[in-house]
Amino acid sequence: MRKMQNILVTGGCGFVGSNFIHLTIEKRKFDGLVVNADKLTYAGNPENLSGIGVGPHYRFERADICDYERTEQLLRRYEIDTIVHFAAESHVDRSIYGPKDFIHTNITGTFNLLEAARKYWAGRDDVLFHHVSTVEVFGSLGETGYFTETTPYDPKSPYSASKASSDHLVRAYHHTFDLPVTVTNCSNNYGPYQFPEKLIPLMILNLFEGKPLPVYGDGSNIRDWIYVVDHAEAVWSILDSGETGETYNVGGKNEWKNIDLVNLLCERAAAFEGKDQDHYKKLITLVKDRPGHDRRYAVDCGKIEASLGWSPKVEFQEGLDRTIAWYRENTDWIETTRSGEHRDWIERNYDNR
Ligand code: NAD
Ligand code: DAU
Repeated sequence: MRKMQNILVTGGCGFVGSNFIHLTIEKRKFDGLVVNADKLTYAGNPENLSGIGVGPHYRFERADICDYERTEQLLRRYEIDTIVHFAAESHVDRSIYGPKDFIHTNITGTFNLLEAARKYWAGRDDVLFHHVSTVEVFGSLGETGYFTETTPYDPKSPYSASKASSDHLVRAYHHTFDLPVTVTNCSNNYGPYQFPEKLIPLMILNLFEGKPLPVYGDGSNIRDWIYVVDHAEAVWSILDSGETGETYNVGGKNEWKNIDLVNLLCERAAAFEGKDQDHYKKLITLVKDRPGHDRRYAVDCGKIEASLGWSPKVEFQEGLDRTIAWYRENTDWIETTRSGEHRDWIERNYDNR
């Protein structure tokens, strides 16, 4: 098991990063320090970590990974020995309407972080840079087959192209400068604290508010869904005992057509509220397709299962029920998350379709 003392988490106020910090401090009882460096874009909400508070095990730093000086300063000040890099622009639709921030944060930001780590760590091999990435870098599957760690890269959206670029940079720093790195490529996450522009939280909020449930195209695109804490556990298994220089695919072994998933959400929400399913299902509306919409994602995660003993644990219906209950109960979080720019963007892009 690797020894870690001071972990820098980038993007820890976002969806996956905040779930990772909750797991690290509350469940795993990490006895070192977690430093959360987040720029607080529209997707970063400090309230995702309000239960944790500042203490001997947690610090928040408002910081942009595109600012090299600031990033290097954080590594030095906190004597960081492990970086877990979540910070990114993460929403495919936004990357279609405005790709610039994606190029800036996902590529230049990752480059800065790599440069700062290379300079500060200067050849050490007891440190680790873990890069959190996506299976979208592999493009789109047909009816059969799975993404493996050796599937050729074929990104199709500005988001996935920027993540592919960051993955290549991370591996290049390992091969060229011996920087100790690991990479995960994960499929679609769901669970608490997800910004309600992504499919599952958007549908949950819309159905409870009686708004249309916009399903792109004919609804037959397929995604593989994983509960976010299972993803965070996968990252932990790599921090503990992943092999330097290696990439691991992570997935939920849980493929769903979008239209079937939205129907299931209506059924689970109806069960939660004690209402008739049709009350929600009648809100389903097929809308114009996403340009370049990837057809199918499915992940072979045999490598991380065989080498590190990780596997997804949370059964889908159980995970959805927990998620529905969370969004039903956390109305203050929804209010703050949707305020300001959040609210405007959601209104422009979803509410009027
Ligand atoms: P998110 O959009 O919810 O959160 C991103 C976080 O990064 C936010 O807190 C934001 O403020 C911060 N951030 C953005 N730009 C920054 C910058 N320049 N400097 C510092 N912080 C910045 O994203 P997420 O869904 O939590 O995804 C996190 C990571 O996991 C991303 O790298 C994403 O590619 C990857 N990933 C996500 C999923 C998923 O389904 N959500 C699946 C696979 C991989
Ligand atoms: O697979 C990993 C990726 O999963 C991550 O890298 C991304 O950060 C994350 O956003 C997610 O990407 P997707 O584009 O697959 O997620 P999204 O929730 O945007 O869409 C899921 C599916 O639902 C996709 O086929 C598009 C469809 N969709 C989405 C929205 C927002 C709809 O039909 N209607 C919608 O309103």
